[in-house]
Amino acid sequence: MQTFNDITALQQTLAAWRREGLRIALVPTMGNLHEGHLRLVDAARQHADRVVATVFVNPLQFGPDEDLDRYPRTLPEDQRQLGERGCDLLFAPSVETLYPEGQSALTRVSVPQISEGLCGAHRPGHFDGVATVVSLLFNLTRPDVACFGEKDFQQLAVIRKLVRDQHMSIDIVGVPIARDHDGLALSSRNHYLDSEARTQASRLYQCLVDSAQRLEQGEPDEQVLAQGTQRLEAAGFRPEYLALCDAITLRPISTWQPGAVLLVAAWLGNTRLIDNLSFRS
Ligand code: PAJ
Repeated sequence: MQTFNDITALQQTLAAWRREGLRIALVPTMGNLHEGHLRLVDAARQHADRVVATVFVNPLQFGPDEDLDRYPRTLPEDQRQLGERGCDLLFAPSVETLYPEGQSALTRVSVPQISEGLCGAHRPGHFDGVATVVSLLFNLTRPDVACFGEKDFQQLAVIRKLVRDQHMSIDIVGVPIARDHDGLALSSRNHYLDSEARTQASRLYQCLVDSAQRLEQGEPDEQVLAQGTQRLEAAGFRPEYLALCDAITLRPISTWQPGAVLLVAAWLGNTRLIDNLSFRS
């Protein structure tokens, strides 16, 4: 696997692949890769002839009090894992390479409405930061297909909307959540949890499964969501939201039916965890 830090080298290789008629898939990441990221590489390989991954800890999508400085950076290990998983090219630019004129001067991309609720309400500007860097990476690499995890469900919905609105001819593939043995969704932020918190953390997924079951049995949604939130609090979480939404618009709905998704975000100590469960018919 080749690794490039600069744009010219990246684009020369991509242009050569395009001349050969090869289909290119993009897997954007912030590094510190785990099995969840690597499943995106697997999915990308199924949809394209060449897989390009990016590792870039995007400062634009972190709030002023968030974990930009302590976000784990493990490039050599990421390179090894990507190479072993059959990724063809890694683009790992510096902030100066991607934002040469500085962040404050940068052209922004904003996807209204769908960015505003759920995580967007608790992390102002976060999805503008994501949409800006993802559209920049799309422009740089011009992929035929791009893979994103369902773990960041709202992010995936924002990107689908971005691609639709901008008439980009990129197929967006959503990849199911990779979970640990106890159901906890894999995340780079799980490394922040000490062993006690790590044990507690699986209660987040249990809350989703339990709430879905109650909804399925016909309990009123308001009661299920309120009790689920209380149970999270009793388990030591500080929940931001537990919501039942339409999977495409992310607007609140009241019945557990095809196209519904339960989404949760909660703090455990100083670690913010998110998860979701989709209705599967
Ligand atoms: P990051 O958190 O590194 O995640 C990169 C991709 O991996 C995202 O599409 C995310 O949804 C997916 N992913 C993470 N954990 C997963 C899991 N357990 N199962 C399945 N997929 C998982 O998301 C970002 O980076 C950034 O916001 C980015 C899109 C790269 C823009 O900066």
